[in-house]
Amino acid sequence: MRFPENFIQEVVDRTDIEELVGRYVELKRSGSNLLGRCPFHSEKTPSFSVSPTKKMFFCFGCHAGGTVITFVQKAENLEFTDAVEYLANRAGLPLPKESETSIGNTGVSRKRVLEMNLEAAKFFRACLFDPAIGAEGMKYLHEDRALSIATIKHFGLGFAPNSAFSLIAHMRKLGFHDEELVEGYLARKNPQTGKVYDCFRNRVMFPIIDPSGNVVAFGGRVMDDSKPKYLNSSDTAAFKKSRNLFALNFAKNCCSERMILCEGYMDVIALHAAGFEYAVATLGTAITPEHARIFSKYTKKVIISYDSDEAGQNAANKAMRILGEVGMDVRVLKMNGAKDPDEFIKKFGADRFRRTLEESRTGFDHKAEQIYAKYDLAEGTDKIKASNEICTLIAEYGSAVEREVYIAQASERLGLTVEVLKNSVETVRRKQKRSFEAKQSREAQATLKNFGDRINPDAAKDPRAVSAEETVLGLLLIFEEYRNAVEKGEVELGENDFVTAFNKRVFASLMRLHQSESGLRPELLGAEFTPDEMGRIERAEITRQQLTNNGPEVFRSAVRVLKEQRLKEDTQNEDLATRLDRLRKKQANLHKGKAEKK
Ligand code: UTP
Ligand code: MN
Repeated sequence: MRFPENFIQEVVDRTDIEELVGRYVELKRSGSNLLGRCPFHSEKTPSFSVSPTKKMFFCFGCHAGGTVITFVQKAENLEFTDAVEYLANRAGLPLPKESETSIGNTGVSRKRVLEMNLEAAKFFRACLFDPAIGAEGMKYLHEDRALSIATIKHFGLGFAPNSAFSLIAHMRKLGFHDEELVEGYLARKNPQTGKVYDCFRNRVMFPIIDPSGNVVAFGGRVMDDSKPKYLNSSDTAAFKKSRNLFALNFAKNCCSERMILCEGYMDVIALHAAGFEYAVATLGTAITPEHARIFSKYTKKVIISYDSDEAGQNAANKAMRILGEVGMDVRVLKMNGAKDPDEFIKKFGADRFRRTLEESRTGFDHKAEQIYAKYDLAEGTDKIKASNEICTLIAEYGSAVEREVYIAQASERLGLTVEVLKNSVETVRRKQKRSFEAKQSREAQATLKNFGDRINPDAAKDPRAVSAEETVLGLLLIFEEYRNAVEKGEVELGENDFVTAFNKRVFASLMRLHQSESGLRPELLGAEFTPDEMGRIERAEITRQQLTNNGPEVFRSAVRVLKEQRLKEDTQNEDLATRLDRLRKKQANLHKGKAEKK
């Protein structure tokens, strides 16, 4: 979802940068700015500066910098739009209705995709309930998978007929164009013949419904063992796999205490049918941080209930970490005697599942059990290995209280003293800290030397030009009159005067914004650049700001340097061209000579 520019501006306007950053960094006043220790690299003396008037930050140590949005992106590890959403929520600003926001570059709006999905869902459902068309699908769901008719209706399940054009024909009648159906992932186009055909054929259909009740996508399952087992909508203007959960539309009404996270559609449906209506599943993807934030919006506790096979357990470990990062109370269900919740409920019933839920373990217990299970703790070497692994696991916990609790637990289980375990945990922590610091100082040195500049890889090519570029950009960022001068052609300067691709891009974006309705606002620049790139842009601005002379002659002379450099490059290329030409002629003569001699 892309937000309109005026919304982004309002979010920034309503955000108090001092209060925001103050949550991460202790800030002290220093002139008109605030100063603190940078949250993005480790340092002893404060070099992290915040300007409340500009609403920008910059670290003179690691050169992180940018707007409040950039700050949230870095601090919370979010994409640009998610950071905007985060700040909007903090400021109590309602998000613009999704139908009002333009999405993608395809021209098919979210609203249109939702309309076609709704019609398609109705069509699939009608097919399922039409014995002449959907008998096989109905047999599969109702008999083979034992879903009641009520459950089938509740989830709006459907059937996609075994034909290449049935949905397309139906949708055409309703006024949807083929191109739109392709964009909405309901039809596909054969690139050779240009013919369109239905995406979903001969599958039972699971509509994915968002919390507002929109059909945003579909999953379709084959009714035998053919592959792929499930076909899911790709991301469209209305849908992003990484931020939707199956059955959240139902679960959201009863999940304030806890939610169950499963792997599959069928698990969720079986759980809901058995009364656990707070179960959801991701949609054919591993859980993402975006999912984790959705959980944190709705509930306090997530019980992970993945398949009991190895793949499921590995996925559970990952889910634990991602959910833990947003502060969820995470539990893991231990399922004995069944491969997944669907099978468990069928075999043992809802009551037994409820008891298993109560017995779900914390993330630490779950991981610790996995370690203990590998070893024979009565045996010496095994016990040593187990305690090493447990200590490494405990060392990962940032809170001393948590470590203490887990050490006590492990001491009992392993029959080792608390003292010994504590020492060993601290040793692991010291080692990790040292290697972390070593890595940081390596990175810092690399940045210092401008060596392997990831943000502007061309920077090493021509230092004189790069420095002039940064002067020009810094001045353009600070002073509107220079931007006006460039716009009006009073100073002749274009993209092609820039030597490095990165600065060329910065120049193009900032001039485009300058000429747009909103004008040059750094937060809008942030939509086009990564947080690291924003830091580089901010560096150009700050560096200029610290210099006293920023007059027109500085600007003009930096522009002149760029022109000279370009001229030099051009002549070099020209030189090369004439030299090559001469060489070719010479060679041709030589050949001629040889031929004449013969
Ligand atoms: P499972 O293979 O465990 O399927 O995949 P399931 O949901 O338990 O279905 P049944 O019980 O075998 O019918 C778990 C989830 O992974 C995704 C789907 O979201 C599925 O629900 N998946 C699986 C796919 O997207 N594509 C596939 O081919 C397989
Ligand atoms: Mn399964």
